[in-house]
Amino acid sequence: MTSHTLDTEAAWDLILQAEDRAGVTLALPGSDEPALEVSGNGEWHLLQPAKEEALALLEMFLPLCQPRAAGAAQHVIGQLGQSLDGRIATATGHSRFINGEDGIVHLHRIRALSDAVVVGAGTAATDNPRLTVRCARGSNPVRVIIDRNRRVPDSHHLFTDGEAPTLRLVAGDYTPGNAHYDGQNTVTEIPCLGSGSEPADPELILKVLADFDLRKIFIEGGGLTVSKFLQAGLLDRLHVMVAPMIIGSGRPAFSLPEIDFLDDALRPASRFVNLGSDMLFDLDFSVALPAN
Ligand SMILES: NC(=O)c1ccc[n+]([C@@H]2O[C@H](COP(=O)([O-])OP(=O)(O)OC[C@H]3O[C@@H](n4cnc5c(N)ncnc54)[C@H](OP(=O)(O)O)[C@@H]3O)[C@@H](O)[C@H]2O)c1
Repeated sequence: MTSHTLDTEAAWDLILQAEDRAGVTLALPGSDEPALEVSGNGEWHLLQPAKEEALALLEMFLPLCQPRAAGAAQHVIGQLGQSLDGRIATATGHSRFINGEDGIVHLHRIRALSDAVVVGAGTAATDNPRLTVRCARGSNPVRVIIDRNRRVPDSHHLFTDGEAPTLRLVAGDYTPGNAHYDGQNTVTEIPCLGSGSEPADPELILKVLADFDLRKIFIEGGGLTVSKFLQAGLLDRLHVMVAPMIIGSGRPAFSLPEIDFLDDALRPASRFVNLGSDMLFDLDFSVALPAN
């Protein structure tokens, strides 16, 4: 068979095959012609020509596919889909849909490569989301809801649809081994968020997820939840999808402590990817930038 130019669907196929694998040469289904080599140290080498958008997809997602051994650091990626004026929802909480179709496919692709997708109680209560993979090929992650006060209605999809395992983090002290999770599509409550009024330490939330062998963590929203992980310095990557829309008021994407000087602003390494309907800012907090 002769080489052909890889398109985004072919690239996504290779990405799914590359998940949690290293030191392998991959081919497209129905072909025995090598298309992609993935080495043990996370490097990869494309063996067939690819369209520009397919290459962008491989560059963005292959780093997320690297195997994470038990005991190794988790990989944490956050996302926010915002308007040009930095809003993720109207003041009444409506956010469907800020991002266009391409942005939604992108979101589902991140879910498909994650072990767990995490949302705050605000998002779970307001949006009644499913957090499953429906607009891309791939499997559903474990769904995690940070819901100290059990304010997300029990009738919501996450607790009733049986589409994926669901962990509901609630008030109480964390005792490793106390909550039993059988990997089935059931709902498991895990007391771990303490009982005070202060937000729980996001590092503790990651530790709880590590105890459940969840290593690739996707913090999907909303703004308060992503901001807490960002403020704690726990995000390796942050995907901000900006839609060409001005809402003018509403829920902010970021809520971080005030700073007086721009020298104290976060300026991560970044890449811009034109998704079509939205512009993606792919921010990499794991790379230290040289000081000015
Ligand atoms: N455009 C997008 O990308 C996007 C994505 C997701 C959501 N949204 C929209 O965003 C809105 C919700 O976002 P939001 O920022 O208001 O809320 P949120 O981040 O979804 O939820 C915040 C709540 O989650 C709980 N929580 C989060 N971190 C916690 C911690 N470390 N410790 C303890 N509890 C913690 C707290 O619940 P308690 O207050 O109960 O303690 C907190 O008030 C909705 O309107 C939704 O439609 C937009």
